[in-house]
Amino acid sequence: MELDKYIEKVLVSQKEIETVTKSLGAKITKDYKNKKPLVVGLLKGCIPFMSDLIKHIDTNIELDFMNVSSYYGGIESTADVKIEKDLSVTVKDRYILIAEDIVDSGRTLNAVIKLLEYRGAKEVKVVTLLNKPEGRLIDYVPDYIGVDIPKLFVVGYGLDYKEQLRNLPYVGVLKPEVYTKDFN
Ligand code: IMP
Ligand code: MG
Repeated sequence: MELDKYIEKVLVSQKEIETVTKSLGAKITKDYKNKKPLVVGLLKGCIPFMSDLIKHIDTNIELDFMNVSSYYGGIESTADVKIEKDLSVTVKDRYILIAEDIVDSGRTLNAVIKLLEYRGAKEVKVVTLLNKPEGRLIDYVPDYIGVDIPKLFVVGYGLDYKEQLRNLPYVGVLKPEVYTKDFN
């Protein structure tokens, strides 16, 4: 496709994403029988993954969303986690499953988990498509992981560079010249 021109290499193909999403869905179906979890997507990166994942969850769930930002559009992490959009429903006494595109430093999830626990959630777990173990700044292991990847900046399937390329159907590494060029 036209957008392939920005990509140096494909790290997780469409096919692999499909396989991984299906297998995560099957595990979640088993673990959440009769628990009616609230699946909380972290916008905007969760959109393609969450949309595909929930179609493989064969038990009752509800959906909600939060928008929490830590990257502010560039490629460097900051220590701040800001809540831009909060949940519409209460989490008190509920099983919460957070759906995330990627876990890097672990700060975003650490902050969100603490907040939902403070609000009285019965249990807070996390499903993430991608995991960058080498990026960790705090000790944290997600409950359900799709694919472990090296410490590289990736885009596609929800992940952005300057808010773009979320619509790529695979996860890829940006060409270095894209960083140095004006990309607006
Ligand atoms: P953390 O708080 O450092 O774990 O950051 C998690 C958030 O940073 C994710 O939800 C993404 O929005 C963003 N992020 C981390 N790594 C990447 C990447 O390689 N590409 C695009 N966004 C990323
Ligand atoms: Mg995100």
